[in-house]
Amino acid sequence: MMDWINVLPKAGYLQEQLKNVLAKILTTGPVPKHIGFVMDGNRRFARKHKIELKEGHNAGFESMAKILEICYECGVESCTVFAFSIENFKRNKFEVDWLMELAKLRFSQMVEQGEICEQFGIKIKVLGDKSLLPIEVLKVLNQAEEITKNNNRAILNVCFPYTARNEITNSIKTIISKKTEVELIDEQLIENNLYTKNQAPLDLLIRTSGVTRLSDFLLWQVVDKNVEIELVDTLWPDLTPLHIIWILIKFSFKKNYSRQRNNYDEDVGSKKVL
Ligand code: FPP
Ligand code: MG
Repeated sequence: MMDWINVLPKAGYLQEQLKNVLAKILTTGPVPKHIGFVMDGNRRFARKHKIELKEGHNAGFESMAKILEICYECGVESCTVFAFSIENFKRNKFEVDWLMELAKLRFSQMVEQGEICEQFGIKIKVLGDKSLLPIEVLKVLNQAEEITKNNNRAILNVCFPYTARNEITNSIKTIISKKTEVELIDEQLIENNLYTKNQAPLDLLIRTSGVTRLSDFLLWQVVDKNVEIELVDTLWPDLTPLHIIWILIKFSFKKNYSRQRNNYDEDVGSKKVL
């Protein structure tokens, strides 16, 4: 796709310039307000590069930071990252412990330094069943939420530990705990009690690593007819800002095309009426 640029001399410099120009252009077209990411492929990346599994997840975090930065630069308002599934607790203890440690380490750095959150005015929200988290991890994540709670230009939803079925179950439990009458329970009310309540609707879901499953991520949100799904073969740690720019360009074309088609259909419809 855009990997050709890597073979050119001064590839790093060119990529940076191209990234900046394209990011500017993209802000003028339809940009997704809310993107969800299934960041898949960290362990395969580790195996491919013969590095330790935990280094694969570390590379995944580095990639996440770069990808989020380009999204916010292009005008995306909300990003939702699938950082840990409730199902991931079934992985071996060493890996689970490392992912918890990674979260603690990186979020305390974010809390202490806070540049990226400051730069883009990002409010961090942790989505999921937090009661499953070790207390010291929970403390750091709560701190990250607290410290960024007044930022209002962008949102970073960190799903940790999350599954969509847990999110929907939790919504129903919340509704029932308020002693809501059965007749009043409808789809809108369930949606209003999801972890993503009061946020821009999902526009785009991106999954990496060639796997074509939703893996219990944002299942309620993804059924909306306006949501685009992008399945890319690249492993998450190999995903670059240019990959994202390419996906955003495609998104913009698709939205412009469907807008034109709707206008055309409306025109034809009104002529028929006349
Ligand atoms: C999926 O790859 C990735 C995860 C289970 C963890 C995602 C975490 C990050 C990207 C790092 C960011 C983390 C924090 C703490 C915010 P996989 O392990 O399923 O790899 P595979 O598909 O190659 O087996
Ligand atoms: Mg995987």
